[in-house]
Amino acid sequence: MVFGVLLAGGIGSRMGNNEKPKQYLNIADKPIIIHTIEKFYLNDKFEKLYVLCPEQWIGHTKNLIRKYIGETDHIQVIAGGVTRNETIMNAIRQIESEYEVDDETIILTHDSVRPFVTHRIIEENIKYATKYGACDTAIPATDTIVQSDDNQVITTVPDRSKMYQGQTPQTFRLKKLKSLYESLTDEEKNLMTDAAKIFVIKGEKVYLVEGEVSNIKITYPYDLKVAEALIQDKN
Ligand code: CTP
Repeated sequence: MVFGVLLAGGIGSRMGNNEKPKQYLNIADKPIIIHTIEKFYLNDKFEKLYVLCPEQWIGHTKNLIRKYIGETDHIQVIAGGVTRNETIMNAIRQIESEYEVDDETIILTHDSVRPFVTHRIIEENIKYATKYGACDTAIPATDTIVQSDDNQVITTVPDRSKMYQGQTPQTFRLKKLKSLYESLTDEEKNLMTDAAKIFVIKGEKVYLVEGEVSNIKITYPYDLKVAEALIQDKN
């Protein structure tokens, strides 16, 4: 079984829009979150899709799904958590309460604010996670990455040919992700902003799926302008 977990539990503070979290802002004719959900709804590999959003936005999210996608029990909207990983854990708890999961059960997690994910990326995530247990989507770094430990002076300049920029989806065996996460201390959980990193620090292999430059995360107002341009280009 493969489950889609769409992460919309954030408030989008860097977007600076206080009225609503960025996933509810429109690009072209509909909200970002709907563009993203549609990409997954079109794929028949998912047993079910879970959309996790802030508690007070659950009603609004359900209304949007009804309006743009229609009545469906294939998509369930539930509350996210205080951190991104806690949001993923909420999804896992919900899945476990509804289904008999086993070691092969896969969850594909995706940022709701990456509406340009492609069919190929989704398919490869499912394929790699099924085969290897964990995978992450990334693109080769185009800029040289410099590391600064004190945020003032460069500590090191890693070899660019080994540097990637992480995207999503990130796809894992559900039970493995849960047990690794539960083995972390509270302090480690706070440091762990990325689910794939949990596997890496625990010595588990995470395979790379090739992303796309266009699979951007909408974070700042500038990204909204880029998203508008990308949508026009695709129409
Ligand atoms: N996310 C989530 N639950 C959280 C925090 C984030 O599901 N507790 C989701 C966001 O909704 C987003 C994705 O994780 O789709 C990537 O996070 P980011 O771009 O950092 O979103 P925000 O946390 O909303 O933005 P900001 O950091 O600017 O506040």
